[in-house]
Amino acid sequence: MKPTKKHEGGPEKDQSLPPPKLRTDGGNSSGAIVPLHPDVPAYLSENYTWAYLNPRNIRFLDHELVVSAILFGNNRRLRRATFAELTVGSTVLQSASVYGDFCVHLARHIGPDGRLDIIDVAPIQVARCRHKSRNFPQVSTQLSDAASFQSGNYDTVCCYFLLHEMPDAYRRKTVDNLLANLAPGGSAVFVDYHKPHWLNPLKPLMILVFRFLEPFAKGLWQSEIKDFAGNPQGFNWHKETYFAGMYQKVVARRAPDSQS
Ligand SMILES: C[S@@+](CC[C@H](N)C(=O)[O-])C[C@H]1O[C@@H](n2cnc3c(N)ncnc32)[C@H](O)[C@@H]1O
Repeated sequence: MKPTKKHEGGPEKDQSLPPPKLRTDGGNSSGAIVPLHPDVPAYLSENYTWAYLNPRNIRFLDHELVVSAILFGNNRRLRRATFAELTVGSTVLQSASVYGDFCVHLARHIGPDGRLDIIDVAPIQVARCRHKSRNFPQVSTQLSDAASFQSGNYDTVCCYFLLHEMPDAYRRKTVDNLLANLAPGGSAVFVDYHKPHWLNPLKPLMILVFRFLEPFAKGLWQSEIKDFAGNPQGFNWHKETYFAGMYQKVVARRAPDSQS
């Protein structure tokens, strides 16, 4: 199934989403208010500039070893679990850039007859993804917001550690929008944090990490990903957890005979 292009070009503006963060630019002689990162949602620029928008930090963070350390050695395992839902030659939407070699492994996994569309809301991340995937003609990367991107009917939508970074309302919009990009019979794979088992020794550490670095992540401890969907009945849901409950993979499969 190849995605049907409904429209092309840059990100669609969705007026119902929070406006971009503004600041007074001291270097602007008119003293006008200018956007700090024009198309980046406020939750991202306010909480994650250090991780995803600051070029110096990005150069340090965008490595397999760093991702592996952040995920306590589970990156390969979670990536394998994600790819187990993706078939060779299929059309895939990756809903945001992921540090390390995720997009390269994904491009290899679906092979030259597949198609991988990657979106990210931060221009600097789009540039890095394009560079990392430059040897794979089946990959195209564009600037867009996962909460509003509409391109077509994908076999699989792959959402890897994106939802925990969003406030609940944005998460709801994103889950619905990603599900809307699925072809009949297609599936969305959400891999993200999950409430650890109470005996998990890393739980106290994660509480601290969430308090200081991931202000919206606890939303995934309190609710099922399925609960963020506006129409969960339209999909068949399956959940698995990993690492004593710390991570989850949720697969939502659209019925083969459903209307998109
Ligand atoms: C996938 S998440 C985190 C993944 C994981 N921590 C890692 O190893 O990279 C990080 C990316 O999501 C992007 N992002 C955040 N909100 C987005 C949105 N609404 N739409 C598309 N991309 C978004 C950020 O710009 C960043 O590049």
